Parts: sequence; C-alpha cells; structure tokens
Amino acid sequence: MSAPDTNHPPLRVGRLTLSDRASAGVYADASGPEIERIFAATWGGPCAFTARILPDDDDAIENALRELADVDDCALVITTGGTGPGRRDVTPEATRAVLDKELPGFGEAMRMVSFQKVPTAILSRATAGTRGHTLILNLPGNPKAVGECLPVLIPAIRECLRHLAE
Ligand code: MTE
Repeated sequence: MSAPDTNHPPLRVGRLTLSDRASAGVYADASGPEIERIFAATWGGPCAFTARILPDDDDAIENALRELADVDDCALVITTGGTGPGRRDVTPEATRAVLDKELPGFGEAMRMVSFQKVPTAILSRATAGTRGHTLILNLPGNPKAVGECLPVLIPAIRECLRHLAE
C-alpha cells in the first residue's frame, strides 16, 4: 500500500473526547492528545486536527459528530471514551444514529487485537461507519487503549478514505 502524497492539503481530522469527568475538568484529557500524537506519527502525511471534548450526553455527541462531518468537513472523526457497559456510556449509540453505513469490522479488529493484551477489551462496544464522505471511528477511552488500537487500524482507515473520496 503506497504512502499518501504529502503535496495534498492536510487531512482534516476531528477528535472528540467523551467523558463526564474530563469535560468537567476533574482530570485532564490524555486520550484526545494521544489520538493526535499517534495519528500524526503513523499517517505519513499532513493532518489538521479539530479537538472537542464533551460529557457522555447522547444528543450532544450526535450534534458534535454531525458538525465535525458536515460543517467542519473532517474526512475522519475519531472519538475516544464512552464505549463501555456503563450506564452513561452512549458513544456507540450516538455514533450509529448519525451513520449512513456501519463498518463493524473496525470494532471487531480492535477487540480481537486488544483481547490478546487485556481480557477486558471485550467490554468496549466501539464501532465505526460512514457519514457522507466522513469516516467516524470510536476508540475506547483509556489512552493506553488508543495506542493499542489506532496504529492497527491505519491501513483500513487509509483505504476507507480512498473509497469515500471517490
Ligand atoms: N482496549 C484496550 N486496547 N486496552 C484497554 O485497556 N480497556 C477496556 C476496553 N478496551 C481497554 C480496551 C475497558 S476496561 C473498558 S470498560 C472498555 O474498553 C470501554 O472503555 P470506555 O468506556 O472508556 O470507552
């Protein structure tokens, strides 16, 4: 698979952290910056990030996803957090509500790869899919999980963005 042409304009990437506590300032958001660091290091081309952080609120998440895809024109939106079994975890539901097509393979691959390292990986219900020309991808909320999942998904992200740009 060839590397992207670095003469292209930067890839617009939205990163959205979903956490009641991080959005309230109870602790610092480590996962959002980790997405930016890992994606920029592994993508191999210029990226321009739009960063958002929100509590685990279904309507607010759906609105932010629509805005990042339709208004900010992000080719890729990566969320982190809110994918677990907790009562307040609603990221996969909010994501599905705005998708045109679900791509369950992203979540399946993450769980498969992560399960080799941590048995609790199966608690993540992370999914992905397309909205117009945008790929939306959920990652678990732990910064370590971002590092374990995101690099593995880069080839499929690249191929998916090619299809969506056609
Ligand atoms: N995946 C990886 N690679 N590493 C992890 O540490 N944590 C798991 C799972 N997936 C984890 C992981 C745990 S403990 C939970 S509860 C779920 O992700 C959901 O996390 P979230 O609600 O923060 O998204």
